[in-house]
Amino acid sequence: MPVINRIAAMADEMRVWRRWLHRHPELSFDLPVTAAYVAERLRAFGVDEVHEGIAQSGIVALIEGRGAGPTIGLRADMDALPIAEATGADHASEHPGAMHACGHDGHTTMLLGAAKYLAETRNFSGRVALIFQPAEENGAGAEVMVREGVLDRFGIGRVFALHNAPNLPLGHFVTTPGPIMAAVDTFSITVTGRGGHGAMPHETADPVVAAAGIVQAIQTIVSRNHYALDDLVVSVTQIHTGTADNIIPETAWINGTVRTFAPDVQKMVMRRLREITQGQAAAYGVEAELDYEVGYPSTVNDEAEVAFAAEVAQDVSGAAAVNAEGGREMGAEDFAYMLEKRPGAYLFLGQGPGAPLHHPRYDFNDEAAPIGASFFARLVERAQPAG
Ligand code: NI
Repeated sequence: MPVINRIAAMADEMRVWRRWLHRHPELSFDLPVTAAYVAERLRAFGVDEVHEGIAQSGIVALIEGRGAGPTIGLRADMDALPIAEATGADHASEHPGAMHACGHDGHTTMLLGAAKYLAETRNFSGRVALIFQPAEENGAGAEVMVREGVLDRFGIGRVFALHNAPNLPLGHFVTTPGPIMAAVDTFSITVTGRGGHGAMPHETADPVVAAAGIVQAIQTIVSRNHYALDDLVVSVTQIHTGTADNIIPETAWINGTVRTFAPDVQKMVMRRLREITQGQAAAYGVEAELDYEVGYPSTVNDEAEVAFAAEVAQDVSGAAAVNAEGGREMGAEDFAYMLEKRPGAYLFLGQGPGAPLHHPRYDFNDEAAPIGASFFARLVERAQPAG
């Protein structure tokens, strides 16, 4: 069974929603325009309840099926990124410096499409909870929604989400049992020396050379300190220091990111970063302080739920278009916080060739919307069949 006919017939309408959302990107938790647009559509579809203002801009909408049964949760993210759009599209961002460069406009549209279909047809038992969250890109909006009680308050028993994937063929699904996305932590190191004249280094304690030593030593965490078959990334992504050619600065700052799957690997990295920071500082005669911030946990798919979701994906796109053992990625996703509390699955949906996620020329492919909406709708109908 391919894309649901009624949803295929909504393709033009979904394109209108998606492009409207694309023109009005908003950031993090502060999504008043986006959330109002979503809530207005949901009410127009005749869903039973719309709960707004959860985690500031988040929304949970409920649709009752036919007869008693459990509540299944479907989640979409609504936030954009602080990137200046370079697509040149007619529907390009009207908010300078912000754009939907991760396709969350498409995710929101797919869940709206499923909402409209499910509210019209109600060909399922129990209830469906549609979760529209803010702040996926930063701020852990999913965690805040969980903390504000959405899973318990609405009795949500299992949760599912999709993310678009550029350069995966249109309509192909990829997922994997167990961990699918990494835990993401960040660190910053402040190196404090004694500044002075560039011509008189012997009178200074140079934080530039010490910072370079720290960055080099950090490279040995992955190459020398951990088992080669465990997944681990440690990347130094920023060094900031100095003001002029002839001045040795007083301070240097180093920033980076750590991606892990196993808690013991994460602990090892924290310990080694601390040891390297202190040891290198002593070697170079400067002071250095590490600030390590634990971020999103690893996104872990439930094995039974991911197998079920893959079957539904096959219903929509055919067996040849579904890879249910696609392996892990080192990216991160705050849906992890929902999967910590409830069984469920996270899948990628191919949208065909184009610029990668978080790129100024990225755009969501509207042809993927009916496919994703059909997936969500079928998921509900199969998980909770009507009488
Ligand atoms: Ni995203």
